[in-house]
Amino acid sequence: MSAQSEITRITLSTLRKHKRADEKFTCLTAYDASFAALLDEAGVDVLLVGDSLGMVVQGHETTVSVTLEDMVYHTRLVSTGARRALIMADLPFMSYASPQQALDSAARLMREGGAHMVKLEATGPTLDVVAALASHSIPVCAHLGLSPQAVHKLGGYRVQGRGEAAAAAMLSDAQAMVAAGADILLLECVPAALGATITQHVDIPVIGIGAGPACDAQILVLYDLLGVTRGHRPRFSKDFMAEAGTGIDRAVRCYIDAVKAGRFPGPEHGFE
Ligand code: KIV
Repeated sequence: MSAQSEITRITLSTLRKHKRADEKFTCLTAYDASFAALLDEAGVDVLLVGDSLGMVVQGHETTVSVTLEDMVYHTRLVSTGARRALIMADLPFMSYASPQQALDSAARLMREGGAHMVKLEATGPTLDVVAALASHSIPVCAHLGLSPQAVHKLGGYRVQGRGEAAAAAMLSDAQAMVAAGADILLLECVPAALGATITQHVDIPVIGIGAGPACDAQILVLYDLLGVTRGHRPRFSKDFMAEAGTGIDRAVRCYIDAVKAGRFPGPEHGFE
């Protein structure tokens, strides 16, 4: 048996088992084959080809300019490099404005890019999009909380779901996404208590970024973890390269250990 055939690919059912067993799993963004291979070998479970590439790779101020073509290209690079991790790819801004457009866009990310699932920023009107993807057996992650693609509507990158009414609305959105067929939820920049509530109230895995330690998994933008990001670094990020002392791979292992042992995120990365 070759070394290649011994590697077991992480699937949605692996992640569901982790949730049921109350075992944290880890996720990081990746944009190219070399880092995908390094992160994969280090044991990161999910690689997200995030449209954050518009900011950290392309140098733009927001993710709005990222095209489907960009996403297909970077997803192909990542899927070439990774052999174990589940590969999730972002549907970029305005590539899922209708169910049919979402199906066409997701098909490209999966067929040409090699993604195993897609992620979309979920707002009310996206329920029918999630349902359409689910009914065509396309695994989908619904991203709730801060929606970077809506930055111009939101007026900035702000914590979402603060206050009773907003928290109740987000919990109800999360449950609606599950009912529509979402396989995973991702919560960005929400109070830690709301992250915990949503994680407890849904039976699908919940990935958090700035959503507190109770989520089933954590994700970071790779460039933040490596201390590569210049300028403003979000409060929820952490430079694990600095903590590890030296070596990108040591930093990644340090991150994995911290999430699995519940040491990251700490109170200083959360919100009241
Ligand atoms: O695009 C991205 O990298 C993301 C993460 C911040 C979750 O959506």
